[in-house]
Order: sequence, then structure tokens, then C-alpha cells
Amino acid sequence: MQSGSLWGRTEPMARALAVVRGAQRHGLGGILVIGGPAGVGKTALTWEVRRQAARMGLRVAAGQCDPAQQSAPGAAVIALLRAGREPLLDSDAYADLVRMAAEPLPVADRIGDHLAGAAGSGPLLIALDDLHRADPTSRFLLRTVIARLAGLPIVWVLAGCDDLFVGELAGADDLRVEQIRLQPLATVDLVTMATDRLGHGPDERTSRYLDATGGNPRFAVRIIDSVARGAADSVAAEFHAMVSGRLARLGEAAQSVVRLLAVAGRPLTIGEIDALLPDTAAHREDDVVSEVLDSGLTTAVREGLSCRHELVSQAVRDCTRASHVRRLHRRLAEYYLTDSVRPAQAVAHARAAAEPGDASSGMTLLVAAESLADTDPDCASELATHEDCHRPRR
Ligand SMILES: Nc1ncnc2c1ncn2[C@@H]1O[C@H](COP(=O)(O)OP(=O)(O)OP(=O)(O)O)[C@@H](O)[C@H]1O
Ligand SMILES: [Mg+2]
Repeated sequence: MQSGSLWGRTEPMARALAVVRGAQRHGLGGILVIGGPAGVGKTALTWEVRRQAARMGLRVAAGQCDPAQQSAPGAAVIALLRAGREPLLDSDAYADLVRMAAEPLPVADRIGDHLAGAAGSGPLLIALDDLHRADPTSRFLLRTVIARLAGLPIVWVLAGCDDLFVGELAGADDLRVEQIRLQPLATVDLVTMATDRLGHGPDERTSRYLDATGGNPRFAVRIIDSVARGAADSVAAEFHAMVSGRLARLGEAAQSVVRLLAVAGRPLTIGEIDALLPDTAAHREDDVVSEVLDSGLTTAVREGLSCRHELVSQAVRDCTRASHVRRLHRRLAEYYLTDSVRPAQAVAHARAAAEPGDASSGMTLLVAAESLADTDPDCASELATHEDCHRPRR
């Protein structure tokens, strides 16, 4: 269902608007914390909340934490007081604050005075996006001012907020804190979104790509836009570019895990991943697993972790060096032959790893053939006649 310009966000919008209504009707303050992985729609939801709050009569001020534009400590918070067509501060008051910026405590007091004055004439909504990128002074100012003005009709919308900051806000008593962690959109919402934008339902191939986005609206918008542009094959190219971009942004350990899952082509348990990637195992803590999952390229399944979709696996393999893919196939083949009892998997990976003239892949094939001799003699003999098996065994 559509809420304003958004699809599939009825429930989070209802929760957000309940806080806005609390300020509008009952003079209550509140905090909306909007979190979720990259591209899930935090900024889009913040915009929609701002738009609806303005329609409900709240005065709205909004800003963003962009390190490139944070000229001085605290600039992200100070700048939002001067943002928009009807800024909360006039230019003199703003210039005073900028001059005082090196002294956070008096600045926090002064901002508190200005906002208390503004809230005296009606409820306010103050939105700050990308809070995880805020400098420490901005975070301090925000925390201090929010706690001091807790009794006033001010709704704070904090998007991209990290858990640490949420914990620090817990001290702001008297304030309703509504934490909204955005989930991926359902495929049905993506299909409706595509139908709305394209003027007709997406074809089967586009629907597959939409499904492979894992409900990430940023991915979906790019797929739909490339369909709308109509260039042949642009959807596949766009999808490939999105996957390789996502992969490149991950840390080294997380990248290795995603590449392994793509080559494995089936779910792997954390224990299997550790055994297959012993060099990165030391780093495989919860945050690597979260990074891998937040990338949107993978998903948690009953058996462990898996690539989200075969189209994602394919794209990850395509943007991995062929020699690296073969190395991973060889490792999987050896693992399935020794540490686990999955000869059929071993055979598939040994075949994929085989390279003419490569002694080690020939050896793996030979061992796989031997292990299959009883259960699948046809396959075993086919493997044993593979040209790489003709090398003598040492
Ligand atoms: N529910 C939705 N319905 C329609 N379009 C959406 C929805 N959510 C997000 N979008 C679109 O998806 C794209 C990505 O959304 P957005 O920029 O809000 O993500 P984000 O979570 O803020 O990303 P980042 O983590 O990079 O800040 C935008 O083009 C936005 O308009
Ligand atoms: Mg954003």
C-alpha cells in the first residue's frame, strides 16, 4: 500500500505519525529513530514524515550530517537551525552561534533557548539525517538539547542513528522514543512500485531482478529506471553494477565470505565458512556476519548464510577474478571430500575448479572419482577419464 510517495511503509508511517500527533494535539515531545541498512528508505521515510508533519501544522526544520560540509564541530546541528524557507533562527542569532561554536556547553544552552522560544508558539519537528556520520560535538549538542527540552512539543526525527546514540538518549525521560528499524520491502510492493512507475506490470525477467534486490528500494528504483530507459540488456548491466558496488564497499573479511557463498551456490554454516576461510576466521565476529547480512547480498537461512538469489551469486562470481573463483571451487571440493561427506558437491566443485594442466585440480578430481566409485560408478568413471586425471599420482 502507498503512504504518500512510499510503498509498503504503512506501519512505520503510522507509528511515526502517532508521535507527530502527540505533539500536535497534546503538546508532547518525542523522538523517532529511523534505522536500517543502506538504501532501505530511511531518508525517504524522513521526507514523508516531514511532509505530513508540515501539513499537520508543525514547523519543520531539517538537516543532514555530511562530513564534507561540516566546516566546524557541531555544524550539522547549528546549520539545521538556519535551514529551509522559514529558518528557526534569524541570521544574527545564527552568526552568534557560529562564533561560539568552539564552546559546546554555552552553544547547547543557546540552542535550547532558541528552540524553547520557537516551541512556545507551536509544535516543531526537527529532522537530522545520516546521524551516524555526525561529528562528536553535533552528537553532544543533540543529546544535551533533546534532554533539556523534553517537556516541550518537539518531535526529533533522527535517521541513520546508531545503537550507541539510541542508548545515550535513554536518559531523556518524559520523551516517547519510537524506534523504527526499516525492513526490506516485500516483492509485491516492488512490483506495485514498478507498475506505478512504468504504467504496466513488469515482465517476468524484470520481476526476477526485482526479487533478487532482496527488497532494497534503492536497488529496485535503479532496476525500474533502467527498464523505463528501455535499452536492451541495461537491466542486467545495472544489476551487475549494483552488486559489484555493494561488494566493493564491504570490508575484506565480509567480501571473502560473500564470494565464498556465491561460489558455494548453497547455504553454508558459520562453522563451514570458518573451515573454508581459515585466514579470515579470526575476524569472523558478529560484526562481520552483520556486515555480510546488511549488504543485502546475502540472507540468513536455517542452515546458516546464503547468497540472496542466484542472480546475486552469478553477479558476485562475475565480478570475482576467474582464478579466485577456481581457487574457491577447489577449496570447496577438497573440503567436501575430507571434512564432510558430500561427494556429489565435491565432484561439482572439482569439475568447476579443473583447469587444463593444473595438477592439484587433477588430483582433486581423481580423489572425487575414487570417493564416488561405490555410489555413482558412471560419474566416477567420467571423472577419472577427465584429462587432468591423467597426470601420475605422487
Ligand atoms: N517505500 C518506498 N517506496 C518507494 N520508493 C522508495 C521507498 N523507500 C525508498 N525509496 C526510494 O529508494 C531510494 C533509496 O532510498 P533512501 O535514499 O531513502 O535510502 P536510505 O536508507 O536513506 O539510504 P542511505 O543508507 O544510503 O542513506 C530512493 O530513490 C527512494 O526514493
Ligand atoms: Mg539516506
